[in-house]
Amino acid sequence: MATMETGLANGVSFALTDEQKELRALAREFAEKEIRPKAAEHDEHQTHPAEIVAKAHELGLMNLHLPESLGGPELSAFDGMLVGEELNWGCSGIGTSIGANGLAAGPILVAGTEEQKREWLAPLVSDPILGCFGLSEPGAGSDVSGIQTTAVRHGDEYVINGSKMFITNAGQASWIVCFASTDKSKGHRGLTAFVIPMDAEGVTIEKHLDKMGQRATDTSAVAFQDVVVPAANRLGEEGDGFKIAMQTLDFTRPGTAVGAVGVAQAAYELAVDYAKERVQFGVPIAMNQGVSFLVADMATEIEAARLLTWQAAWMIDQGYGRKATKYSSFAKRFAADTAMKVTTDAVQVFGGYGYIKEYPVEKLMRDAKLFQIYEGTSQIQRLVIAKEIFLPSS
Ligand code: CAA
Repeated sequence: MATMETGLANGVSFALTDEQKELRALAREFAEKEIRPKAAEHDEHQTHPAEIVAKAHELGLMNLHLPESLGGPELSAFDGMLVGEELNWGCSGIGTSIGANGLAAGPILVAGTEEQKREWLAPLVSDPILGCFGLSEPGAGSDVSGIQTTAVRHGDEYVINGSKMFITNAGQASWIVCFASTDKSKGHRGLTAFVIPMDAEGVTIEKHLDKMGQRATDTSAVAFQDVVVPAANRLGEEGDGFKIAMQTLDFTRPGTAVGAVGVAQAAYELAVDYAKERVQFGVPIAMNQGVSFLVADMATEIEAARLLTWQAAWMIDQGYGRKATKYSSFAKRFAADTAMKVTTDAVQVFGGYGYIKEYPVEKLMRDAKLFQIYEGTSQIQRLVIAKEIFLPSS
């Protein structure tokens, strides 16, 4: 029998409300009319889609979870699944540029005071301003406790030194949430989060990284050299940083997972159309089980991935807290791996045409790969799941 833990069995309805259907339709229309026509260009030139981000902001497709008290729409995590899938169906590079404010805002929502929320988050509502999330470092990706950036207190200020790597939207962001060590002897319990304006003296973008996929999103390396930050910019207490980062990722991983669902759905639709049109040996290739079974598996796995993302988001909305951690990782792991498999198989369905840039599926395959890496690799999701199975958090 299903238990409380299984979520979907606990009385949740699959029927979307009229408002949710409208929200999804708005995001789909935006993806069709504004994102898709520009996707190949931004992919080729690796340019930040500022105009599209501004339009998404104007239409209310950004900053979905900011509270009404700050002027935000305060949409649920579940509503975010509906928007996220469609934007990423349009192009996951552009979708990530639009959606990454959710990750940036996360630590401030988790640990910020009302004053900090007003200072850093309220401006995101009025203008298409971007923030960024500075966790990863050149030597500390999966191992967050290995962060080397330091924050040393001098009176009412901290001095920050170090480097961050793979930071989404850093090149366009107005501020960064930087995780730094205030006490190296304490390991993960010595990490602390700070909001730092990107124009503060000593903050530099060291490099815009040349990526394989999701090229419409800027990903940069950031350096901090003797950056002076008021103590008022610290989120929570010294030592709270690791848990703030984990709580943020618990919330954002279903959003990343649903982006992978959007990419997989796009590849699947292209594969179905192509399999019906492409004739070999006198029949459409869809008539061959070698092809139709690939497509059948795509459809099944996309549906399963979507349901996992919906379940994780629903649990977050129900206030499951730490009990949702495992479900966020189920969704992220499965959806990312599904997107990789589905896009690879879509290239296979297209054959030689799938491998050339004239057809859109090779881009989807390149884009899909990143879902298995950012916001915790598929291996890290398995680690989180295994820990929750064998050493469940209370
Ligand atoms: N919520 C609250 N607390 C949590 C938590 C959670 N989800 N997960 C762990 N904690 C707590 C634990 O209870 C423990 O608490 P105590 O100090 O009281 O004991 C503490 O945090 C340490 O936990 P672990 O022992 O589990 O920590 P760990 O060092 O073994 O590693 C990890 C945990 C899961 C591997 C973690 O380091 C992790 O998630 N790594 C991946 C990081 C990641 O996702 N990076 C992506 C960066 S963002 C990005 O990619 C986007 C971009 O812009 C490109």
